[in-house]
Amino acid sequence: MSRFPLGRTARIAVLASGRGSNLEALLRAFPPTPPGDALGTVCLVISNRPEAPALARARAAGVEARHVAYDRREGFEAAAVAALDEADIDLVCLAGFMRILSPAFVRRYRGRLLNIHPSLLPAHRGLHAQRQALEAGDAESGCTVHFVDEGVDTGTIVVQRSVPVLDGDDEESLAERIREQEHLAFPEAVGLVLSGRVAADAAPESSADARDRAEVGG
Ligand code: GRF
Repeated sequence: MSRFPLGRTARIAVLASGRGSNLEALLRAFPPTPPGDALGTVCLVISNRPEAPALARARAAGVEARHVAYDRREGFEAAAVAALDEADIDLVCLAGFMRILSPAFVRRYRGRLLNIHPSLLPAHRGLHAQRQALEAGDAESGCTVHFVDEGVDTGTIVVQRSVPVLDGDDEESLAERIREQEHLAFPEAVGLVLSGRVAADAAPESSADARDRAEVGG
């Protein structure tokens, strides 16, 4: 059973460590001052890096932006949970958040914690997914938005979008091509989850099913 739809505009938090281009895409789709019938609104951004451009983007958009230090995971997670509770958050999106979260944190947000990963999972989990795709000689790559479970990049897939790997690609050119698709996939996945059309406890499905659904627009 999905906990969504809520029957009101869902409150979304984004955790980001870096440039925040996926955050920007989510802000466009789920703005901080939403129309009355909006499925969701981004109302909190948390970063473990005080200088992360993601925090500046959030502030520029008028969204509460907090730096939470990650010296020790326990301390980071306790402070993040307090901030998420205080902001009454319904859905948490990891958009380039470069830290592993504990099983306890993941369980707490089960069914309402999404991540974006730059590969067609289950291929190339973990770091340097684009490099892994190049080294494997893949003809196709892409991105996956999935629920977070206790494994690394293993949770239920919500949306996948694919791109070709081109002759002469290096990590950066492939990452850039994938990133364009990420900016479509993440808002699309959040929409599917908030409308109750996909849930973490849905029967496992193949990556191809998720890709088909993305290609027909949900
Ligand atoms: C993206 O490539 C995403 O797939 C990965 O981290 C990157 C974040 O980019 N998890 P940005 O900060 O959203 O621009």
